[in-house]
Amino acid sequence: MANSTPLALIELRGITKHFPGVTANDDIFLTIRGGEIQSLLGENGAGKSTLLNILSGMLQPDRGQILIDGQVVTLTSPHEALKRGIGTVYQHFTLVPTLSVIENVMLGSETPFVLDLRQAERRLQEWLGDFGLAVSPEVEVRHLSLGQQQRVEIIKALFRGSRVLLLDEPTSVLTPAEVSELFAILRRLKAAGVAIVFITHKLE
Ligand SMILES: Nc1ncnc2c1ncn2[C@@H]1O[C@H](COP(=O)(O)OP(=O)(O)OP(=O)(O)O)[C@@H](O)[C@H]1O
Ligand SMILES: [Mg+2]
Repeated sequence: MANSTPLALIELRGITKHFPGVTANDDIFLTIRGGEIQSLLGENGAGKSTLLNILSGMLQPDRGQILIDGQVVTLTSPHEALKRGIGTVYQHFTLVPTLSVIENVMLGSETPFVLDLRQAERRLQEWLGDFGLAVSPEVEVRHLSLGQQQRVEIIKALFRGSRVLLLDEPTSVLTPAEVSELFAILRRLKAAGVAIVFITHKLE
């Protein structure tokens, strides 16, 4: 049994976070493995985004430990989390509307291969196709629907080598057709070994 279980990419041990007057996260233990989709389900204000913000380096926990590949780490910023392979698609998207798809994907990226912009553009074009996005890398993000923007956000996270993809309420901005397309994409990523944490307050 133990051998067939994929290694934990991330482990949370006793994560606790207080805000004035409220305990948002209370002693949370969670194991995240490659090739698994986990859903964090909870009503409004349950503390889902807080936990995701801790995982993505936006917030620091008051207590508890985060382990990545078995090592205790301190995630001091989203940049730091991304460097360790944790990519996040936030509830409110972070793309720059007046920049193109490729500019958004490359923005803040430090990986050496992006120096070859043409190669990056070819790769991006392939990914856009894989994600069912019939848009040019040159198109400005403001011309995309919310569902399309979300896929660009996912591609942006994966382009930086994310092994873990955190999605905060990803279905809330989508049409029912887009929701099933997103699920198909997530199942493909799972099959490719990506770990996915999916936050929602919708039971379906
Ligand atoms: N920066 C903050 N400052 C103070 N209180 C906060 C802060 N962020 C969250 N909270 C509080 O912590 C609790 C959990 O909030 P959180 O946003 O994590 O919930 P959620 O499960 O994501 O809810 P939603 O479904 O509305 O997105 C709430 O009571 C919220 O008001
Ligand atoms: Mg939330």
